Amino acid sequence: MSYPTSSKVFVLNRLIEDGGVQVSGPSSHFTLTTCAVTPPSPNGILVQLVALSNDPGNRLWMRSAGEAEPVRAYGIGRVLAVGENVKKAKVGDLVFDQLAWAEYYAYEPTGSMRVLNGGHPLELPLSTYLGVLGLSGFTAYLGLKFVLDFKPGQSLIVSGAAGSVGHVVVQYAKNVLGASKVIAIAGSREKCAWLEKHGADRAVNYKSSEFAKELAEAAGPEGADAFFDNVAGSVFDAVLPNMKPHGKIALCGAIAQYNSKETYNADALMVILMRRLHVIGFTCRDYTDEFPAFEKEFTEVIKSGKLWIGEGTETVVDLRGRFEGVPETWEGLFHGKNNGKLISVLAD
Ligand SMILES: NC(=O)c1ccc[n+]([C@@H]2O[C@H](COP(=O)([O-])OP(=O)(O)OC[C@H]3O[C@@H](n4cnc5c(N)ncnc54)[C@H](OP(=O)(O)O)[C@@H]3O)[C@@H](O)[C@H]2O)c1
Repeated sequence: MSYPTSSKVFVLNRLIEDGGVQVSGPSSHFTLTTCAVTPPSPNGILVQLVALSNDPGNRLWMRSAGEAEPVRAYGIGRVLAVGENVKKAKVGDLVFDQLAWAEYYAYEPTGSMRVLNGGHPLELPLSTYLGVLGLSGFTAYLGLKFVLDFKPGQSLIVSGAAGSVGHVVVQYAKNVLGASKVIAIAGSREKCAWLEKHGADRAVNYKSSEFAKELAEAAGPEGADAFFDNVAGSVFDAVLPNMKPHGKIALCGAIAQYNSKETYNADALMVILMRRLHVIGFTCRDYTDEFPAFEKEFTEVIKSGKLWIGEGTETVVDLRGRFEGVPETWEGLFHGKNNGKLISVLAD
């Protein structure tokens, strides 16, 4: 397969510690460069980026990366060439891995590289392999099954609920694991209405001036057994008084704090103490062996319709021929511009 001799690539020109990210203009944190496309090393592969996964976690990498490195991001690439020692992928395969904000990328695959659908024609839309059947769905599955040990009949609060991980938590808890009640928290009335159509018993807007009251009404005096937190910050603080004694909290993400220096209510620790709550942080990295079981179960529940995929479970931005739009699209995550998985399509 032939390939071009140069590729556009975004590099991080300086670390981003606290504070917002500049995605355009002279003070942008990212520089658009053109790099030579080289043949892969003996252990490497060359891919054309087909779709980029936009993840809040990219922001954490930007706090610690080396200067002038291509911006790292998960994505799906089409294999254009493979090194002589590579057995896991062949030319033409679609692979998921940690790639970069680039049009073409030669690299040595990590242990987490996956060939989509084992190299066979895809059974589901490509975007599903980045969202519900990708790391977002895997995170939702792990948090509920392994961290919260969620049981039928239990009640659940989910923050960041209209996002990529959050909507899967809502649907999987309600439609598969048999939650008695799912309370979703999201940032607009429209998102709340959408969540109530797709698995949430109640959805509450954290931007409403009545948020604390509405959340307390939704949780009821008995409170919730479990909390799946994607947000941290003031939303986390607001949920704590609505937990049952000995309730469990899975700390999945902290998007409210990725761009912020602010510290939050130290009284949270008092509430955790008085309610004897179990707060458990987790990342997918600790559970990679569980991926095949997840993939099998989720393929079945998607096909059976228990996990619904459709309008609102993903936001696809077409950046074909508009590669310069990559940073701005990603940054939309921090302003709630997405419903479900935010995906940038770079090529057919
Ligand atoms: N532990 C792990 O292994 C793991 C794996 C994947 C993801 N994560 C974490 O899980 C969380 C969700 O990730 P995702 O991929 O599903 O992203 P996402 O929810 O699809 O996108 C981010 C959403 O967060 C909300 N948000 C943004 N700023 C906020 C703020 N200041 N306060 C409250 N909500 C805010 C926005 O929705 P609204 O309109 O509702 O504000 C936005 O749409 C992130 O914190 C991420 O880092 C963890």
